[in-house]
Amino acid sequence: MNLPDMKEAKSRNKEKVEFIYTNPLKSDAFSGKKYFIKTYGCQMNVHDSEEISGLLENIGFERVESELDADIIILNTCAIRENAHDKVFGFLGRCKHLKKDKPDLKLILCGCMAQEKHVVDEIMAKHKYIDLVFGTHNIHEFPNYLMNLGDGLNIEVKSNEGNVYETGETFKRDSKYTAWINIMYGCDKFCTYCIVPYTRGKERSRKSKDILKEVECLKEKGYKEVTLLGQNVNAYGCDSEEEISFAELLEKVAQTGIDRIRFVTSHPWNFTDEMINIIAKYPNIMPYIHLPLQSGSDRILRLMGRRYTKEEYLQLFNKIKSTIPNAAVTTDIIVGFPNETDEDFEETLSVVEECKYDGAFTFIYSPREGTPAAKMDDKIALSVKEDRLHRLNEIVNKYSNLNNQKYLGKTVKVLLVGNSEKDDSKLYGYTETMKLVNVICDKSLIGEIVDVKITEAKSFSLDGIVEK
Ligand code: 5AD
Ligand code: SF4
Repeated sequence: MNLPDMKEAKSRNKEKVEFIYTNPLKSDAFSGKKYFIKTYGCQMNVHDSEEISGLLENIGFERVESELDADIIILNTCAIRENAHDKVFGFLGRCKHLKKDKPDLKLILCGCMAQEKHVVDEIMAKHKYIDLVFGTHNIHEFPNYLMNLGDGLNIEVKSNEGNVYETGETFKRDSKYTAWINIMYGCDKFCTYCIVPYTRGKERSRKSKDILKEVECLKEKGYKEVTLLGQNVNAYGCDSEEEISFAELLEKVAQTGIDRIRFVTSHPWNFTDEMINIIAKYPNIMPYIHLPLQSGSDRILRLMGRRYTKEEYLQLFNKIKSTIPNAAVTTDIIVGFPNETDEDFEETLSVVEECKYDGAFTFIYSPREGTPAAKMDDKIALSVKEDRLHRLNEIVNKYSNLNNQKYLGKTVKVLLVGNSEKDDSKLYGYTETMKLVNVICDKSLIGEIVDVKITEAKSFSLDGIVEK
């Protein structure tokens, strides 16, 4: 086992990224065997689970939707906040009992938690019933690990974060219409509260020619939308002298002619004018930007290591809104960072009032072992933090609702992607601005981009009918 050293990680130099093209293992060694996969966390993890599923189906596995029917149970984990840790071990504890009736059942933990040394220590001390632990840097090796699995606990965690593995189109994608595409891995920003630079390693960009090939291939297969994924997409290409910038990549992806392009997540720090202009120029780049604020207080932003002030954030926000007038903007906000005062919190609320976001993901700060913020003394009571979260959410929801009301009576383009969960007679889809819409329409329209007249606007979704 070779885990990244938390202290060393920050001083990593930009060693050359090595690209390794691997042929995924194909075999029927596990023909008829069933896998269940549960994914925690961000889109990056969701997409990693698509890769894991593809690799497993290549060696004969079939997917099942209940852990009770499975021969192997995989938990793809998230480390960003403490609550995910408790959920994962709670679920594993229940799965452990399934082994009594099914001694060959294998329990597998992968993803970001596997890259945390204290979690691996905890597994070795308290959870020896787990069969395999592997990390975020060696997903492509998973079939090999299964083929050669020894008895007891097997740990395969690597820190070879300099490499990018290309396995071709081996993903078992969840959707036939929208696809995730990794454009880069890792993060070099080291925000002081965040575990990601330690669990995902340094920034490594995929080659633009590989990304563009993937887009072309998805377009040929009939995909209507691609979302370019990275912890910090606007740093794309910064780790390589030969590579193009994110703005140039976005333009090249737009020029493939695929119907819809999205990207997440953008860091406000290196969001360039060139990017804003490219988004405005190409109608197939969706006018939807997720721009994490984290805090509106300059003091807290400095302690967080965010590299911008409230004023700089607002300038960027206003530039985006004036260049792309129909743009929807969402954000992430953390409340209760160590020693956040009432005044700091009011600054955050003032930014929310000014930006009137279309939506926001809001979190209470969660200390992550090994990060600088976890060492900061914190005297603020949890009840104060909960109260701040509650107040923040009320304002966020007010603006989410007000933004949605603007759609009432309007006709907008919606990509229909699935059956509505609440009402079987409807399909659901997303507007260009990423609003969820439940639509009364013919079910055969699934996968199409249609004109929808909005008949009702709620806080978190819209209702509509297809316009003939
Ligand atoms: N505590 C709470 N929220 C966090 N995030 C990242 N790290 C933490 C943490 N330690 C939030 C940030 C980030 C989002 C993905 O998760 O807002 O943008
Ligand atoms: Fe974490 Fe995002 Fe900051 Fe990177 S930019 S350290 S992923 S919060």
